Amino acid sequence: MTGRTTLTIVLAAGEGTRMRSSMPKVLHPVAGQSLLAHVLGAAPKGGGTALAVVVGPDHQAVADEACRVRSEADIYVQAERLGTAHAVMAAHEAVARDYDDLVIAFGDTPLISAATFERMRAPLAAGAGLAVLGFHAADPTGYGRLVVDGGQLVAIREQADASADERAITLCNAGVMAFDGRIALKVLEQIGNTNSKGEYYLTDAVAIVRALGRDVVVIETGEDEVRGINTKAQLAQAEQVMQARLRQAALDAGVTMIAPETVFLSADTTFGKDVTIEPNVVFGLGVSVGDGAVIHAFSYIEKSTIGARALVGPFARMRPGTSLGDGAKIGNFVETKAAIIDAGAKVNHLTYIGDAHIGAKANIGAGTITCNYDGFDKYKTIIGKGAFIGSNSSLVAPVRIGDGAYIGSGSVITKDVADNALAIGRGQQTARENWATRFRDAKAAAKAERK
Ligand code: UD1
Ligand code: CA
Repeated sequence: MTGRTTLTIVLAAGEGTRMRSSMPKVLHPVAGQSLLAHVLGAAPKGGGTALAVVVGPDHQAVADEACRVRSEADIYVQAERLGTAHAVMAAHEAVARDYDDLVIAFGDTPLISAATFERMRAPLAAGAGLAVLGFHAADPTGYGRLVVDGGQLVAIREQADASADERAITLCNAGVMAFDGRIALKVLEQIGNTNSKGEYYLTDAVAIVRALGRDVVVIETGEDEVRGINTKAQLAQAEQVMQARLRQAALDAGVTMIAPETVFLSADTTFGKDVTIEPNVVFGLGVSVGDGAVIHAFSYIEKSTIGARALVGPFARMRPGTSLGDGAKIGNFVETKAAIIDAGAKVNHLTYIGDAHIGAKANIGAGTITCNYDGFDKYKTIIGKGAFIGSNSSLVAPVRIGDGAYIGSGSVITKDVADNALAIGRGQQTARENWATRFRDAKAAAKAERK
């Protein structure tokens, strides 16, 4: 919203005990990114915006995550967990600065979109005192109910304080609120804790804003967007919703997926044109796939770049730091890590390539292993362009194979190999004529004598 200044406060002081985890609730991942990162990614950004995150007293890790995602975030600590309005007041100092809009969101609601944040701010520009995000809950139990009278929102009633009639209401508070910044502090200061839980409820703001003679409006959205995460089951549900969204976006962008419901994406996976993904492929964080690449079934890819028309899998594992050049190929049962594989190189079967650089059009035979680790340190293997590594070779790093060089199958290579040389590092083959016949005859005779 041009011309208006906005402060967004994200509440993340939850204990998350129902996750049964030693990790703070908002750090759990959906599509590879923390719940908090999703919310912070959707929160208003750009000119005139400021961001504050409220964390609990022991949650340095949450503060670190907030700053990693949005370096401009100011962190406030809520020393005691006395309710959502109390949490907002932990950021009192920020609220007291004169912003046009004050937007409050919860750190455990990862599916919220940037568009919804924009929709929340629009009524403020038109003069409303408060906008509340609402949704129709399939099961409203536990949510604050939106009490609407004559088309106006008059109150939000928390489950514990609601009458039987109010509990029948299915329109619920999603947790996102947008205040006219000029009245926000005055309203927050008036919120008391005279409810059944003895907490300071942000939801009491509705009645207070109304008493000031200002309009309170409800902005509605679908339940899927505002699912709050309190348990691992809800985390898995959110993952499902997010995966469906990411798959749809990939299909809309022209990616071909034979069975999209079996492909798992990360929030930051990117695709070029005419990419094909076969069933049962998992993309971890940090993967980009170039134009025309094909990812065959059952591949697992993390923090890697895949070039144009490259072929991956089936059953390939690309670990962090793999860069696959244009038209290069990684086949079945191949694992790569910190590997730069130049254009047109082929690593077709049963191979480990770690801490390595493979030159353009090199051919790596089946069963080749880069021996990159001695139990203490990692070393590099460099393979020149057009080199040919015979099957079942061990390349003991640090080692360099020259451009166009040949390595005989079954070699253990411990020394550098010059350009265009042939290196063989294995026992020499010997043969004895008719040895097998003599062996069999002698054995058969000995056996006959024993009878
Ligand atoms: C809250 C709303 C309810 C709404 C529901 C939507 C209030 C009083 N109730 O209920 O109307 O339907 O969310 O999911 O606002 N938090 C703090 N410090 C506190 C208390 C909470 O930081 O002292 C944070 C939590 O980390 C969480 C959020 O505020 O991110 C909501 O708190 P929670 O206790 O989950 O509220 P609900 O009971 O779910
Ligand atoms: Ca909640």
